[in-house]
Amino acid sequence: MKIFSTKKLPGSIYKKLEEKGFEIEVWKNNEEEISSENLIEKCKGVDILISAGYTALDGETLKAITSVKMICLYSVGFDHVDLETAKAFNIKVTNTPEVLSKATADIAFLLLLATSRKAFYLADSVKQATWGSFNPTAHLGQELNAKTIGIIGLGKIGYHMAKLCKDAYEMKVIYHNRSPKPEYEKELNAEYVSLETLYQKSDVISLHVDLNPSSYHLIDAKAFEQMKPNVIIVNTSRGDVINQDDLVNALEQKQIWGAGLDVTSPEPLPHDHPLLSYPQVCVLPHIGSATMETRAEMSEIIYQNIIAFSENKPLVTPLY
Ligand code: DGY
Repeated sequence: MKIFSTKKLPGSIYKKLEEKGFEIEVWKNNEEEISSENLIEKCKGVDILISAGYTALDGETLKAITSVKMICLYSVGFDHVDLETAKAFNIKVTNTPEVLSKATADIAFLLLLATSRKAFYLADSVKQATWGSFNPTAHLGQELNAKTIGIIGLGKIGYHMAKLCKDAYEMKVIYHNRSPKPEYEKELNAEYVSLETLYQKSDVISLHVDLNPSSYHLIDAKAFEQMKPNVIIVNTSRGDVINQDDLVNALEQKQIWGAGLDVTSPEPLPHDHPLLSYPQVCVLPHIGSATMETRAEMSEIIYQNIIAFSENKPLVTPLY
């Protein structure tokens, strides 16, 4: 079977697959997303596509890659894939859930702390040599002890973020989800609330939802209006869950304290984007899953899915 991989993955996945008789081509450039045209061209005669990165696998592209029978996503998120069309063409699609939950929650927690103390902005002042003398009234952050965190989307990543906040700062956990999660409620002593209540009561709001039509721009001007002025928004899900223009406006109007973002719209965020001018905004370049351990586990899941597929066995992490 022929495999095309849109980026070079870490670990020994290709070696292991070659030893099993697979023929593999890896796209030459790890720094940029492959264009749809190049992806279609490279998928000619290919059976399995390993898709790392976020080149859209929309209906048009799926129709054009006629030999592909399986797509392995190197991510938990699948908002760049038209699953309905994949289903209609009987293309199997897998993702990498669970293994990246702790690493991504760590980034959410890191962004929360960094934002609460304006850490990225102040670290920059050291590099820019604008670090002045001790000023009792400058650079003041806010503490997190016993505050309330509102989790939107209490899946595995949301659970780990809530647990970090509870264990470190005895934070009260409230959450909103499609349906209540009694299995997490007990351990986190968490309360299921409406979105409105979550907006009104939270000191921190951490986003852990899939991007889909119902979560697109979920956090908009109307949501910001309901929030406390000290609230910190943390987003490690997808940039488009927040209406970024409304976020800039909310920061400008001091409707909220700040935001810690691992995801933005677009990615990369232009270096002169207004968001980057606020001391209380910390932005990272989408590194939720970027640890050696997690990325190796993501490669391993892909390996296992490919082997299962080639042996006609149930897939390990199918998306449908
Ligand atoms: C994913 O894998 O979809 C996430 O964006 C990791 O941060």
